[in-house]
Amino acid sequence: MSASSDDAQFMQEAIRLGLLHLGQTSTNPSVGCVVVRDGKIVGRGTTAVGGRPHAEPQALAEAGELARGATAYVTLEPCSHHGKTPPCADALIASGVSRVVISVTDPDERVSGRGIAMLRDAGIVVETGLLEEEGRHSLAAYLTRQTKNRPYVILKLAVSQDGMIGRMGEGQIAITGPAARAEVQQLRAETDAILVGIGTAVADDPELTVRIPGLQGRSPVRIVLDPLLELPLTSKLVRTARQVPVIVVGREEVFGSETGEQDLPPSVLPDISPTRGEIDSLPASVQNVDLGTSGQAQPISPLVGEMPGRAEGGIPTTNANETTAQLESRRQALESAGVEVVYCHPYHPEQLLPALASRAISSLLVEGGAKTARLFLEAGYVDRILLYQGPGTIGQGGIETPIRKTDIPSDFKHVGTRIVGDDSLDEYEREV
Ligand SMILES: NC(=O)c1ccc[n+]([C@@H]2O[C@H](COP(=O)([O-])OP(=O)(O)OC[C@H]3O[C@@H](n4cnc5c(N)ncnc54)[C@H](OP(=O)(O)O)[C@@H]3O)[C@@H](O)[C@H]2O)c1
Repeated sequence: MSASSDDAQFMQEAIRLGLLHLGQTSTNPSVGCVVVRDGKIVGRGTTAVGGRPHAEPQALAEAGELARGATAYVTLEPCSHHGKTPPCADALIASGVSRVVISVTDPDERVSGRGIAMLRDAGIVVETGLLEEEGRHSLAAYLTRQTKNRPYVILKLAVSQDGMIGRMGEGQIAITGPAARAEVQQLRAETDAILVGIGTAVADDPELTVRIPGLQGRSPVRIVLDPLLELPLTSKLVRTARQVPVIVVGREEVFGSETGEQDLPPSVLPDISPTRGEIDSLPASVQNVDLGTSGQAQPISPLVGEMPGRAEGGIPTTNANETTAQLESRRQALESAGVEVVYCHPYHPEQLLPALASRAISSLLVEGGAKTARLFLEAGYVDRILLYQGPGTIGQGGIETPIRKTDIPSDFKHVGTRIVGDDSLDEYEREV
């Protein structure tokens, strides 16, 4: 094997390691590092859960004396200044490594290039840009937050053969099968927050948690866009709010509040962790398959035991004439149940997203419904689209998907099509 393919293989391993803690490192990126001596990996590291320690000191500690004269492969430029942990560039220099290979340079201007300069000044050979596309993909949430001051937004939708995402008044409908649903659970576990509109929260009564054995502790923060605070106190979201945080985004004008995003109430989220550079301000290969649409289409039935939607009177309703006092009492009831209510215009993602980014949310999974998905798509804030297509049809009363394979915006690249159980997944991505 040539030196360069060796390099690619070791960087691939560093990227794989970095992916292990996606969604668990707060505002720090989940970085991977391997230390290689005489063609063998002698140290491995992933940014720890919570964001600290960083990947490099862990990999160097495992390598010990074997790091001397070795090569370190790291997915992101090593940090260069003192924060809550000493600079990783210093740790690399002290370890005696002779070469450092980096996939992605840090876009933060307080870090960018400095880590590399420190290493070079110490006589270490530094190479950058190896497997940069894969590296950027693995660090997409961090890079988006750093460069765009908002979370990386993934839109996931399950669509029937006839282009529907649900049926009016029927609550949750099983459009996709268990394999696709398990994938979505895994995706939730790798994401900081998950967001739905009040229409979905009411119609589907979803829990939006991770229920994969062993990963139950990795449920993301759950966010509901709910201008009039209609989220029922009996909903699964509210009933589980003390176990997994729920944020309801109410509409500030409704409350006559002057509150701006910078004045959002204290969060139930953990304190913001400093970034990789301790700055206080803040998957798998794809198999290409041609599916076509000619498969046998089966009608889809509602899931058994689902909560009735608004149309069946399954929830308390509200109207525009409600008094501020009624809304205030609903806010208090939600807060007493452990829900955090924030005031920010729910249908202005340009205000909401930076507010979420300032609260340690670097990745956001938008799970619908139709209006909410359209809102984020039309505002141009979606970075990745996952379109799961089930084999059945919904027919009359169906809620049309806000996006189809045929109308994906032109700046998205089609990553591929994959079979997932009886369903298919089309994945699209914009450049980070
Ligand atoms: N297959 C899937 O992947 C999937 C995922 C999630 C949900 N769903 C289905 O989608 C359905 C719910 O979809 P939905 O569109 O009614 O609900 P939604 O997007 O969850 O919530 C929309 C609610 O927000 C209000 N709203 C007002 N202005 C808005 C704006 N600019 N942007 C966003 N929302 C705005 C809407 O009020 P108005 O009605 O007054 O306009 C509506 O009450 C359910 O049947 C659910 O099962 C399917």
